[in-house]
Amino acid sequence: MKINVLTTFPEMFSPVTDQSILGKAGEKGLIEVNLINIRDYTLDKHNATDDTPFGGGCGMVMTPQPIFDALKSLGEGIKAKPILYMSPRGKVMDKALLDELCEQEEFTILCGHYEGVDQRVLDHWNMREVSIGDYILTGGELPAMVLIDAVSRFIPGVLGNDESAEDESIYSGLLEADQYTRPREYEGMEVPEILSGGNHHLIKLWKLKESLKKTAYVRPEMFRAWLDGEPDLTEFTKAERKELKALIDELLELDKKILE
Ligand SMILES: C[S@@+](CC[C@H](N)C(=O)[O-])C[C@H]1O[C@@H](n2cnc3c(N)ncnc32)[C@H](O)[C@@H]1O
Repeated sequence: MKINVLTTFPEMFSPVTDQSILGKAGEKGLIEVNLINIRDYTLDKHNATDDTPFGGGCGMVMTPQPIFDALKSLGEGIKAKPILYMSPRGKVMDKALLDELCEQEEFTILCGHYEGVDQRVLDHWNMREVSIGDYILTGGELPAMVLIDAVSRFIPGVLGNDESAEDESIYSGLLEADQYTRPREYEGMEVPEILSGGNHHLIKLWKLKESLKKTAYVRPEMFRAWLDGEPDLTEFTKAERKELKALIDELLELDKKILE
């Protein structure tokens, strides 16, 4: 997958994209992050990429010309492929967007700065605005890196085990249960006994119950969506399903009390 990134700070990327799992994906040729310095396409002697906003207001706005020319340098076909503008005005990035992007051979990300980008850039290049959350950052570089990291996990071969990309909090429909590793006892704190008992069926039941509790407390809307999806619990015995139903009823009652 080739990801073109238009930025005025290309040097911000390598500490993230050249390390760890992303770095290995790059070495294996699974991902190519093509950094394009918008400043290389400026025509004035100060290499300015911004100007004052029409209509007044504080701050500066990124000008169209260097971004247009940087995009044109990517070739004719680039407009037909997704171009995303990292922006707090966008729809918040979710799994549906990642699923769509991981199918692409190539897409482009524009990182904004100052007060943002001249609207004609977004209109002409059919850019989709993508936010990483309801807060304001100083530039689009960190959001772009968040998107690149999140999408890369779904590219076959990037993770050691392809299965594990989906088997995570949120993507599974619930938040993950608490995790433990060795030692079994640390400073007087013990790992829950069930996890070292070796009974995989009971461990699965325990993990589901813990996930349900965690999700209902922290993300009640996710808990309700999971229930609305009528989850398949047939792998559990009748008695275990009864236990699960009792827990779910208890959590729903609690959720109702919080809302009241
Ligand atoms: C200071 S922000 C501009 C905010 C803009 N004036 C507004 O109110 O929508 C500068 C740049 O940071 C990036 N940015 C800031 N917060 C972001 C977020 N939550 N998600 C994605 N990009 C963000 C965008 O690229 C944006 O152009």
